[in-house]
Amino acid sequence: MDDFIFLLTEKEAKYKQVYQQMKILITQGTLQTNDSLPSIRKLAETLQVSRNTTLTAYEQLVAEGYIRGEGRKGYFVNALEPVFLQEQEQEQEQEQEQEQPVLSQPTSNTTSLLVDFRAGAVDQTYFPMKTWRQLANQVLQEPSCYQYGELFGDPLLKEQLVPYLLQARGVSTTSENIMIGSSTQQMLLYVGFLLKDHFPSVLLEDPGYNGAREAFQLHRFVIETLPVMETGAQLDILKHCQARLLYVTPSHHFPYGVSMTIQQRQTLIQWAQQVNGYILEDDYDGEFRYTQQPFPALASIDPSKVIYLGTFSKSFLPGVRLSYMVLPNTLVQPFKERFAHFEQNASSLHQRTMAQFMAQGEWTRHIKRMRLTYKQKMQHLVQELQRQFGPQIAVLGEQSGLYIVVKVKSPLSEQQLIQRAETYGVKVYPTSPFFINQTSEDPLLQLGFSKLTMEEIKLGVERLKEAWQP
Ligand SMILES: Cc1ncc(COP(=O)(O)O)c(C=O)c1O
Repeated sequence: MDDFIFLLTEKEAKYKQVYQQMKILITQGTLQTNDSLPSIRKLAETLQVSRNTTLTAYEQLVAEGYIRGEGRKGYFVNALEPVFLQEQEQEQEQEQEQEQPVLSQPTSNTTSLLVDFRAGAVDQTYFPMKTWRQLANQVLQEPSCYQYGELFGDPLLKEQLVPYLLQARGVSTTSENIMIGSSTQQMLLYVGFLLKDHFPSVLLEDPGYNGAREAFQLHRFVIETLPVMETGAQLDILKHCQARLLYVTPSHHFPYGVSMTIQQRQTLIQWAQQVNGYILEDDYDGEFRYTQQPFPALASIDPSKVIYLGTFSKSFLPGVRLSYMVLPNTLVQPFKERFAHFEQNASSLHQRTMAQFMAQGEWTRHIKRMRLTYKQKMQHLVQELQRQFGPQIAVLGEQSGLYIVVKVKSPLSEQQLIQRAETYGVKVYPTSPFFINQTSEDPLLQLGFSKLTMEEIKLGVERLKEAWQP
């Protein structure tokens, strides 16, 4: 093994952190008997600490019998008794629970993953674990949980969603219009079954959310495109398109991050009224707008023309697999008839727990807390990028959501930038899969920040700077 990377914090002496991380690798068996360790100099360089730090850590490990020095040959792992290993594991688990160190897996020669700017994640630190557990336990005691749930969603959850949608998104609706499901994609697939016989084509944002595109393609809708620029959508196209069905992300365009103005929203609604069509409004992270209050949803202007899609994946937890759809009155009955013999996809336990979570005011508290947390992370990421890169990059979509798009002025391609970043231990993501007919002149990369700490964000950007240096 000749390369390790640990993220070191300022909270504790560095030598101690190096010592603890090494001990974890040995006792977990990642480093095995007689494996060689990186030299004191090499490890100090990789971790960007002094040689004294790595020397002190190694000396401690030698003193405790974990490793041995063999003169010029370097340091090697000693054999450990199995019982000792188990005890150590328990000890480590406790230590890890307390400290939660960020530790990348060592690999030989290549740098391990250090910072992952993945967009599809939420912050684990602020997850309301205790409250959710308590409520989930209570829900499990309800007799109704021991049978299949309601077909179109738990009535208690719908009851909570009605005032929430009005207060937070301006959408005035009833429980009758709300359908619960497990994800936006699943809801799109379902509603696609209903619409495809009457609407052969669909207009999709370009670039736009590929997850939605996949759902429409599976139904063999003819795809027409609505070009979107960094400044917003080119709505003139509406005059010429054949489609009477439009899928959009008006509050936070995916991936550029722009929000539609009220004039643009009205244009869309007028179009839907004129062509007697529908707009599928994907409001996937409308809760997280940082500069002003969240913009009211399109469905607040004319709910008879909008199929509104909301999800708990960004605002709460992707793993909870809960989403909802608000249907115009005209579609409620056809939807219920079409899916009358299909069981609900979303867990009734999670639906019930979420209903309780909302009823007790925990949901509002959670959103407030997360908005503030993500706002701080967003600001930090943008500042770090600007500090490190200056005019070499442009940041798009920093006013809302859980990711940004970075436009890099570089002779390197999107793929090359991603690969270079990876060799420096940083994962960033392409935006090319989101484009249909349009292309971008400069490479555009998507950087999510929600689950990263402030330190990780800083480190990630520093590494990117090194990786993308001309
Ligand atoms: C635009 C957009 N809509 C919806 C979703 C996903 O929502 P769900 O998890 O409910 O399918 C995503 C996920 O990244 C997204 O980017």
